Amino acid sequence: MPGFEWLGQEETDAVNEVMQRGVLFRYEFDEQRKGIYLVRRFEEEFAAYTGAKHACAVTSGSTALKVALASLGVGYGDEVVTQGFTFVATWEAILDCGAKPVFCEVDETLCMDPADLKKKITDKTRCIVPVHMMGAQARIKEIMAIADEAGIPVLEDTAQSAGARLEGRHLGTFGAMGTFSFDSVKTLTCGEGGMVITNDAELSLNASEYQDHGHDHKPVGRGNEGRRFVGMNFRMMELQGALGLAQLAKLDRMVATQRRNKAALKEAIARVPGVSLRQLPDESGDSATFLAWFHETPGAAERFAGLLAEEGVPAIPWGKNTWHAYPHWGHLHAGSTTSKNGWPFARPEGRAEYGPAALPQTEGILSRCLSWQIMLGWDEAKLKQMTEAVNRAAAAL
Ligand SMILES: Cc1ncc(COP(=O)(O)O)c(C=O)c1O
Repeated sequence: MPGFEWLGQEETDAVNEVMQRGVLFRYEFDEQRKGIYLVRRFEEEFAAYTGAKHACAVTSGSTALKVALASLGVGYGDEVVTQGFTFVATWEAILDCGAKPVFCEVDETLCMDPADLKKKITDKTRCIVPVHMMGAQARIKEIMAIADEAGIPVLEDTAQSAGARLEGRHLGTFGAMGTFSFDSVKTLTCGEGGMVITNDAELSLNASEYQDHGHDHKPVGRGNEGRRFVGMNFRMMELQGALGLAQLAKLDRMVATQRRNKAALKEAIARVPGVSLRQLPDESGDSATFLAWFHETPGAAERFAGLLAEEGVPAIPWGKNTWHAYPHWGHLHAGSTTSKNGWPFARPEGRAEYGPAALPQTEGILSRCLSWQIMLGWDEAKLKQMTEAVNRAAAAL
């Protein structure tokens, strides 16, 4: 998922242009900026790209989640169902809103298991946050059907999957809102940055006001605006807007390159005895940031990981990952917080408890899973070397 590999003259020129103009800020400076609003243009172009009616740029994928949850009215007393395989930001944002994250198992899509989602919905559930992990789709149609029947809005955490689609429709546009990250390792990167998309005008207005301290943005001049609610500062800078526009113009080419590189390795991995590939609801819409596969047992995965490492092509063992795997979120299990009174784990109605063994299906699936991040810069020689390494590792099994 690395857009940083393709940072080039376009990005340099775009950033230099902002510096020469001297307007680093998305609001105000109307005279100096001569009608040029890059963050606003990035929002418009990103909305057009995804097919969403509205987009709101923010500082990160984490704050995009916070802004979207706040826009949906999520707060204390609410539960939000998300999945036990995601980056910690997904549930940090839920806790930051005062709501309680409820964790759902993932299945072999490496995304939310709809069967377990049904079991996790209660009369307190105010939002469902499936995560389109590693460049590809959750079973979003099944998740939407369950959510619609229960009358609960869906926020799609699409941080890892810009450019991915399901049956031609962009991920992030199925639920009430979708969020994206443009951090250092994403296919589209601004260094740091995020986006919230929605088709709902009211949610869009909430997001646009919330990320700027609640200011209502009426044309009365900065400092004279009213506010419907308290917000915070999650404003994107013009420098990031400039980078985002340059990278967005490359996004489909980056996805096509990732898909070509992934396809070259997929066949070799699929031939390894005992291996099955990650399930993809729609392979044609995969943004191909990762190739992920399963072995029959955790021991077999560990053995193959060792052989790949010896061949100089190490794979990521997700079962051991402390950033993304529920069983290894020790600070969540311990309820560690900077707050002296224990918030957000200590609550008036009782402590929010998260046992490390609460998601056995997720733990089992992740312990059998290995993957490679697909790079843009791999050439034919590199792909051949990797394929031969896989073949030798498979023969040594
Ligand atoms: C699934 C998921 N959600 C949210 C985020 C947070 O994005 P950011 O790093 O831009 O805050 C990430 C970042 O990796 C992510 O993978």
